[in-house]
Amino acid sequence: MAVVHEKELLCKKFLSKTQKLLIDGKWVDAKSGKTFETINPATEEVLCRVAEGSKEDVDLAVKAARRAFESGPWKTMSTAQRAKLLLNLADLIEKNADELAQLETLDNGKPIKESRYVDVPQTVETFRYYAGWATKLEGETINANSNFFTYTLREPVGVVGQIIPWNFPMLMMAWKWGPALACGNTVILKPAEQTPLTALRIGELAMEAGFPDGVINIVTGFGGDGAGEAISRHMDIDKVAFTGEDKTGKLILQASTGNLKRVSLELGGKAPNIVFADADIDAAVKGAITGIFFNQGQVCCAGSRLFLEESIHDEFMTKLKERVAKMRQGDGSDEKTHIGPQVSKEQQERVLNYIEIAKGEGATVACGGQSPADMKKGFFVQPTVLTGVNNTMRIAQEEVFGPVLAVIPFKSMDEVAEQANATTFGLSGAVWTRDIKKAHKFASLIKAGTIWVNCYNVFDPAVPFGGYKMSGYGRELGKHSIELYTNIKSVWVNMMD
Ligand code: NAI
Ligand code: MG
Repeated sequence: MAVVHEKELLCKKFLSKTQKLLIDGKWVDAKSGKTFETINPATEEVLCRVAEGSKEDVDLAVKAARRAFESGPWKTMSTAQRAKLLLNLADLIEKNADELAQLETLDNGKPIKESRYVDVPQTVETFRYYAGWATKLEGETINANSNFFTYTLREPVGVVGQIIPWNFPMLMMAWKWGPALACGNTVILKPAEQTPLTALRIGELAMEAGFPDGVINIVTGFGGDGAGEAISRHMDIDKVAFTGEDKTGKLILQASTGNLKRVSLELGGKAPNIVFADADIDAAVKGAITGIFFNQGQVCCAGSRLFLEESIHDEFMTKLKERVAKMRQGDGSDEKTHIGPQVSKEQQERVLNYIEIAKGEGATVACGGQSPADMKKGFFVQPTVLTGVNNTMRIAQEEVFGPVLAVIPFKSMDEVAEQANATTFGLSGAVWTRDIKKAHKFASLIKAGTIWVNCYNVFDPAVPFGGYKMSGYGRELGKHSIELYTNIKSVWVNMMD
């Protein structure tokens, strides 16, 4: 297997050291002295050791973030200077794009082409987009009563805790830091324990970009009983933003009640991807593949339920199977790889277990269905398509978070709309049709935060993203993220003589 040779490994220097926490502008060991391993999921080799932050370290990070928020250069700098820092960071990420792409692929397993052409450029674009917002935050004057001059101020929320997952480590960091920093907050980031490396490298770049001490803090470590829980419980954190599993979201919300901190949650999904007989079938086949196999299926908006109109079911399945058979699975560092390993042994086992559950429920494996026999190492699961699924089965209701597509035939528009919505989630959905009326009708019928028409997994920092129902609340990206990271203050001035 052709993997990146060591001499080409731009992140070698970074990987040669034990990673520390970023607190108050300094790289420090965890107070406990503990560290944990981060692993390359394609080879199962240890990439390096990382400081295991806990409550004590979170306390120090919060103190630094509080001080940086209440006093010092961050509070008094102009919004243009704030924008410049975000632009500096974007430029530095772009300058180090190849190294960051390698690091993301080594830590997460995703194909290097995706790291290089999706994760890194979207991270850069997100910072540039929110740099633009820093200078455009406004309050309003309100003509309520001529006896008073009434206006609003839009102010930062304060100290923000951000807990992110392992599926898009650097991009999720950008979605969180971009708006929080543009609005003038200070942050404590907890990357996922499986994939802490790119956040730490970008933390180094943030220091180089010139962010004042304490504005950006990174505490690596675990979730429950670790740094994650300490953040969600902390009495001096004003807001917590989370992306991850719905169960974890509930725990974070419960832990937040001590000081009623603001919470935004971006949780899982079980997206319906609906193909009508009048669709461009070849385009829809490609869309179904992008929808479920991109990032090894580890995507909250993955199109994991494929609804096919009965009359095209067989033709569609033939074309789908042909294309899936051509997908090259392997080490993400190999340029030719289309699909890499799952992020961890735990996730590999979870996905394989769901395939067994589906078989037990009566589903048929149309392709894939297991770990590839020729891969001796790595947490691989073959791209898998299951037919004979109905919408009430566990495989159609629970988030697998892996390369497993459940195919469900349908007869009528009403039937498919009802089934598409018969899920506890509501993050996204897609419809494939040439009928413009049908497309718009579906866009309004589906209870989800994003609908794609004749496309899948399209993103832009300007377009809001977030969930209905148990997929969470709050909208990230676009101007909507500004709402998450600001408070509105109303000021009344007596104008009466
Ligand atoms: P998770 O939700 O437990 O982990 C995400 C982040 O939350 C990590 O940084 C973790 O350390 C932290 N965390 C965990 N427990 C916490 C707690 N009690 N308090 C505060 N922080 C906590 O997700 P996990 O266990 O890695 O994956 C399990 C499943 O979750 C996946 O199979 C998938 O279905 C779903 N998931 C969904 C994601 C999404 O983007 N919606 C991303 C990652 C996982
Ligand atoms: Mg968990």
